[in-house]
Amino acid sequence: MDARERLIVALDLPSVAAADAMVARLGEAVSFYKIGYQLGFAGGLALAEQLVRAKKQVFLDFKLHDIGNTVARGVESVVKLGASFLTVHAYPQTMHAAVDARADSALRILAVTVLTSYDDADLAAAGYDFTVPELVAERAAQARDIGIDGLVCSAEEAANLRKIIKPGMVLVTPGIRPAGAASGDQKRIMTPAAAIAAGANYLVVGRPILEAPDPKAAAEAIVAEIAQAGP
Ligand code: C5P
Repeated sequence: MDARERLIVALDLPSVAAADAMVARLGEAVSFYKIGYQLGFAGGLALAEQLVRAKKQVFLDFKLHDIGNTVARGVESVVKLGASFLTVHAYPQTMHAAVDARADSALRILAVTVLTSYDDADLAAAGYDFTVPELVAERAAQARDIGIDGLVCSAEEAANLRKIIKPGMVLVTPGIRPAGAASGDQKRIMTPAAAIAAGANYLVVGRPILEAPDPKAAAEAIVAEIAQAGP
């Protein structure tokens, strides 16, 4: 796969105008964009359709979790929109509904096993009798058995998850920081090259590109690092 297609830029921006300006600035350097709550609920779904028409790939990071019928109808709409990736929480009922509804379309369903902001105490407070690594492994195995297309995970988890998931499943990793970039609120970070070496298929990068003095140059540097890191 072309290194450029493995970089997903998180459009964590407050308005469509700001996102439009960033997409124009990044130009041909970036072919894949992630839209989450902030932009999605500020007109970002229309932008998603526009990006698809402009032949960019779109990752809708809305982490769905609802009754199966509601998830399935939502996924059908996302298929029509033309998005490439959509996240759901890794609950079996939700994953089954999403996989059934994406059918044989080009949409890939990614499961979020355990949110990276959770530690063992957060899981206990939520009523779970599992440690974070135990629950991540359990949910990854369920995602595999249900036919989920990939997982969102930290680069640190990637090597372990590879042992659990099927070969065709993709690992999508945020928490990427080129050498020298500020970590922000990310606790577990890796450079682009290290994340690829650890088994990530796609890297999600936000602030290191959005806040760079020259975002296009920052994106190109990451693509070059991905290309060097190999397949
Ligand atoms: O700015 P930064 O590169 O840290 O952005 C990372 C992106 O990945 C954000 O959109 C964030 O919501 C998302 N993300 C994450 N950790 C997860 C799942 C998603 O940082 N576990």
